[in-house]
Amino acid sequence: MLSKVITIAQQKGGTGKTTLAVNLALSFIKFHNFKVAIIDTDPQGSLGKWYMIRNDKGYSNKNLTFKTASLWGAQYESKILKETNDVIIIDTPPKIESDARPAIEAADLVLIPLAPSHVDFWATEAIIEIAKKAKRKILTQINRANHRSKLIQDTYDYIKSINVLSTNTLLGHRQIFVSSMGEGRTVVEKQRKGKAIEEIKAITNKIISELN
Ligand SMILES: Nc1ncnc2c1ncn2[C@@H]1O[C@H](COP(=O)(O)OP(=O)(O)OP(=O)(O)O)[C@@H](O)[C@H]1O
Ligand SMILES: [Mg+2]
Repeated sequence: MLSKVITIAQQKGGTGKTTLAVNLALSFIKFHNFKVAIIDTDPQGSLGKWYMIRNDKGYSNKNLTFKTASLWGAQYESKILKETNDVIIIDTPPKIESDARPAIEAADLVLIPLAPSHVDFWATEAIIEIAKKAKRKILTQINRANHRSKLIQDTYDYIKSINVLSTNTLLGHRQIFVSSMGEGRTVVEKQRKGKAIEEIKAITNKIISELN
């Protein structure tokens, strides 16, 4: 049992925290045969809604556990879930700043999605500071990328300048991420092959190598 906690955090709303949470969870289950728990700490409850739709439609939740918790509660909850799961993924709300501390401290790895945009760079700083203070491993993930955007190099330069890790994989702006979520599914369940799956697989592998 790996028993590792990943907290997905980012001050800015809509950067893909919940999308990454569900796609990584199913990727860990499908490609690595892991037992995975997901914890929704966001009062918006997007992760919970996704899980409820899944349940109502009867999709398999084999090896997947869902919990809700406050940001404080996630620390306690993840400790318990570590006994029976390989990976625990904590999805957090936007605008958390100082409230984020317990969920960050609970983590072995803090995963920060950001779009290739200067606005996202600025919004990322508060979480990075908290995660650095807590001496947690920080992995950034560029999301909703247009591969031809000139801002991608700027984003890698920014990530390098703040001295945190990054995956080598861009997660593209793809409609399949939007539509699958609304159906209570993920790209790894919807498609057998394709760019979106390859991206999620590569990010999953990078996370596993950082956790080991
Ligand atoms: N790679 C992507 N390609 C296309 N759309 C995406 C991608 N990632 C996320 N989205 C879409 O962007 C919107 C925001 O994503 P998501 O809810 O995952 O962000 P979030 O960071 O969890 O937001 P919040 O801060 O409100 O919790 C959703 O409509 C989602 O489907
Ligand atoms: Mg969310």
